[in-house]
Amino acid sequence: MVHKVAVVTGGASGLGKGIAERLGKDGFKLVISDVNQKFLDDTQKEFINKGYEVITLKGDVSIQKDQQLLAQTALNNFGRLDVWVNNAGIESVVPFSDITQEQLEKVFAIDVFSVVYGIQAAAEIMKTQDGIGKIINACSIAGHESYEMLATYSAAKHAVRSLTVAAAKEYAKHNIRVNSYCPGVAATSMWDRVDAAMAKEYGWQPGEALQKFSAGILCGRTEEPADVGNIVSFLASSDSDYITGQSILVDGGMVFR
Ligand SMILES: NC(=O)c1ccc[n+]([C@@H]2O[C@H](COP(=O)([O-])OP(=O)(O)OC[C@H]3O[C@@H](n4cnc5c(N)ncnc54)[C@H](O)[C@@H]3O)[C@@H](O)[C@H]2O)c1
Repeated sequence: MVHKVAVVTGGASGLGKGIAERLGKDGFKLVISDVNQKFLDDTQKEFINKGYEVITLKGDVSIQKDQQLLAQTALNNFGRLDVWVNNAGIESVVPFSDITQEQLEKVFAIDVFSVVYGIQAAAEIMKTQDGIGKIINACSIAGHESYEMLATYSAAKHAVRSLTVAAAKEYAKHNIRVNSYCPGVAATSMWDRVDAAMAKEYGWQPGEALQKFSAGILCGRTEEPADVGNIVSFLASSDSDYITGQSILVDGGMVFR
């Protein structure tokens, strides 16, 4: 049996860790990248104890050569690359009038440029291989709907949805599928920061923003990393071979498209 190989960026904590864990359970050899070395060391130890085959590489997704090195590291260590998850991303929560050039450039570099670099690096290897390659991007409900205080983030995630379609069209001839997952409200460290920024702006209590955003979720709870792991597992598997260019909402029932 050929063991398939998956790369997960921002895979050392939050949703990315949930995704990596699920792909490890599915039998993928894992290459996890992150900017945070301590998260990487802790996650690698935990995953090795659980029996997953995993290597880690510190890198910044907004730097093109870091993404190229990540793809080469997967190839050099495991001999192939089947799945690439462009998961790493950052939020930005500010009133429209306070958006700065620096903040725009940072969010677009980490949330959008990273997706371009990741797709290029993964496709370069996948197109030389047999079989169907899967590139899977982190989009968001904010890639389908735009939210106040989240203008830059929403624009960035809309850009991810656009890149997903364009890349799916260009790389179809190389047997590469490109799709995105669009989570809703998951109580990761990202949402801790969103909650704190909204509390500061609106004079809310800690936890109030999270509560307000999640109150209407039809499934009655916030999202868990495992919920995102489930959809990525599907998109990484042969069960989704006939799906490409899609940005699939996995939000418990919040945004309807
Ligand atoms: N949490 C949510 O509710 C939610 C909802 C919709 C979409 N998303 C998207 O899911 C993805 C993961 O979100 P999360 O909630 O797990 O975030 P998080 O902040 O909890 O974790 C992000 C991880 O990425 C790493 N990271 C940050 N910048 C990086 C960079 N430049 N290079 C490499 N790694 C970097 C961090 O160290 C961390 O381990 C993001 O793209 C986010 O936009 C999250």
